[in-house]
Amino acid sequence: MSLSQIAKTIKGSPTLFLNKKFAILKQKGNPVIHLGGGEPKSKVPMEAVTATIKHLNTREIRYAPVDGIPELKQAIINYTEEFYNRKVASANVMASGGAKQAIMLALQAVVNPGEEVIFPSPYWVSYPEMVRLCGAVPIPAYPKNKSFYPQLKDIEDRISSLTKAVIINSPNNPSGAMYSEEFISDVVQFCEKKDLYLIMDDIYHRLIFDGKKRLNPYDYVKKLDDNSKLIIINGVSKQYAMTGFRIGWAIANNYLIEAMTNMQAHQTSGPSVLTQKGAVGALNGDQSCIESLRDTLENKRNLMMKMLNDLDGVKVTKPDGTFYCFADFSTFNKDSNKLSEHLIDKAQVLTVPGTGFGMDGYLRISFCGTEQDITEGINRIKWALDPNSAGEIIIGNKKYVRDRV
Ligand SMILES: Cc1ncc(COP(=O)(O)O)c(C=O)c1O
Repeated sequence: MSLSQIAKTIKGSPTLFLNKKFAILKQKGNPVIHLGGGEPKSKVPMEAVTATIKHLNTREIRYAPVDGIPELKQAIINYTEEFYNRKVASANVMASGGAKQAIMLALQAVVNPGEEVIFPSPYWVSYPEMVRLCGAVPIPAYPKNKSFYPQLKDIEDRISSLTKAVIINSPNNPSGAMYSEEFISDVVQFCEKKDLYLIMDDIYHRLIFDGKKRLNPYDYVKKLDDNSKLIIINGVSKQYAMTGFRIGWAIANNYLIEAMTNMQAHQTSGPSVLTQKGAVGALNGDQSCIESLRDTLENKRNLMMKMLNDLDGVKVTKPDGTFYCFADFSTFNKDSNKLSEHLIDKAQVLTVPGTGFGMDGYLRISFCGTEQDITEGINRIKWALDPNSAGEIIIGNKKYVRDRV
């Protein structure tokens, strides 16, 4: 089949593939547990539901302004003032179809074919493919200290004359690591000095644990004017448990926002007016839902750590935030695709192989599900990998026989 050069280079999303696999296995009646998920299980805030229904009831569901309805832009401006201590104008804000689309448009607006975009590894599965969609080259930066906490040197070493942008995601998907203040401050100032675009993907910025202090990239900028190349990405998907609403946004200089808006106009138009109304409801409503989600996730993180630490051979770093941990299972199998397949076949547990995040030998295991799923899921993994465990177990009403990995 004759496909474009770019289409041929793009891989599917391993996380969305697993969601599909889970749905199929579930439909067939398999007792499968999803520890690979990427969305909180809490309910959508009531204010979001009410606002969406109110607008639906008008029966006038029309095109929305491409960069977002004024109420949503105002809510985003207020959010930016509250959480970034920065007053931005409407011209600095664009709402989009999820944070994903906002990042994609930011890249399309600044990156030329052949140019390079750097991001620390492990990284969110979509960054390399988004960069490739621009005809550009993804450049993962592997921390030399072999931890999940990069240092400026890791980025500096990957810079070339083709570097156009850097993407930073902290707390990070898949490791849950919240990068150090020193690193964030260094990278903001480095990009400013080198005149590089810096995309801060802050989609998990309030989901942090152990009383850690949220970092604000604007605190480290030397000169904030309309030539600033700092781009902030955020949205309602994770923190408000509104993944299905598909509302995210970008904050950037007004020239860039105008360019991104022009491109969005021809690609998708503005996001659905219904879900924009829902996002306004969430952003202007009672904010206690976020603290309660954060609290719940911290408890689940603790449970997940306790269980993984009891699993001989697994090396795990305690996540500072998000709802993921990225554990080193390489003593069992260095090929994480094979290991993940094995856990599905032998124990009916879904985990995401590390390859898509840039590190083979690791599995991303989520703690956004129920405590029961976490406990049962990790117990099943333990059974499947521990050579001293019983040779067979009953899951659902079927017998499973333990096998070599
Ligand atoms: C790091 C990161 N950025 C962006 C997104 C996309 O967010 P949205 O659902 O708002 O498009 C995700 C979703 O998994 C993510 O993990």
